[in-house]
Amino acid sequence: MSWHRASRPVITDHWLRSIQALVLVVLVVNIVNAHAPGLQKNPSKKYNGAGTTYNLRNIIIGRCYHYMSLHPGVGDKNCSGIWQELVDAVQRKDPCKITEEDYKHLALMAVQTIPCDKTLLWSRTNDLVHRYTKATENFITLEDTFLGFVFNGLMWCGKTFRPGMNFKCCPAWNECDHNSILSFWKMASAAFARASCGSVNVMLNGSADGDIARKESILRTVEIPTMDPTRVSEVNVWVIDDIQGEDKNSCNSKSLLELQHYIEEHKLKYSCIDNYRPVQALQCAENPNHAACNRCNYQ
Ligand code: APR
Repeated sequence: MSWHRASRPVITDHWLRSIQALVLVVLVVNIVNAHAPGLQKNPSKKYNGAGTTYNLRNIIIGRCYHYMSLHPGVGDKNCSGIWQELVDAVQRKDPCKITEEDYKHLALMAVQTIPCDKTLLWSRTNDLVHRYTKATENFITLEDTFLGFVFNGLMWCGKTFRPGMNFKCCPAWNECDHNSILSFWKMASAAFARASCGSVNVMLNGSADGDIARKESILRTVEIPTMDPTRVSEVNVWVIDDIQGEDKNSCNSKSLLELQHYIEEHKLKYSCIDNYRPVQALQCAENPNHAACNRCNYQ
């Protein structure tokens, strides 16, 4: 009897102490997690963009060798090393916390000399500008350089707590400021603009609505500020209307004058041409019967 009386309170105390200890452990873990966001696991985080491109490694290494075969002057690039630098830049990291700095080793491995007077920048003319550089080979866009060629159109991001790439989803272009894709293209665009010299041309879309170049465009936020005014003699803007489209902007419209001011603020010399004839000739090759393609009409 006395054993029962005596033993019951002993068991209850033990349980109580165990429960108190458990509560304490849970509290400590919660406090540690709250103050160390990097330790918070969120394995099922969903992003709005497509996942990493399937066969990314093979595509990157294949394109790398392909570029070297097309342009032997680029030198001997370490294709599998470049792939590894990409993996190291993003794996085990939050895909919304990747900076241009994370790609600095990759940038060093991809370094390339850009001949003076060949750089062609663009905004809102993705399709036309690349049809033009394919047709003439007189100018080089970012996508014609080693880095741009190898990574163009691909998607990738890592997983915050695990090695390897996330093939399910990645942040979309504007989903977060420092996502793996946007930071890569900012790094690549800055490297291209920094390496440019002599006369730099820019192809813009005279038929597009709104600003001729978006305020947050890479042209405005990265490339214009990064060009070196001591090496770039002028920035020559080509305003090209769609051959079938409206003439919404030309060299003397407000949007262009504002862009001129912005370029000159960066100590770069500015000039502008409406419907630069060699580009219009390409448009006319595809629309030979359009009125603007009458030899007496086009500038
Ligand atoms: N969502 C998805 N993709 C986008 C978005 C967006 N909100 N904004 C830009 N992009 C991608 C698209 O692939 C688009 O075709 O960037 C491309 C270019 O955007 P633009 O506004 O047309 O131009 P810009 O931002 O100035 O970038 C082009 O940067 O890539 C370099 O040297 C290149 O001079 C060129 C400039």
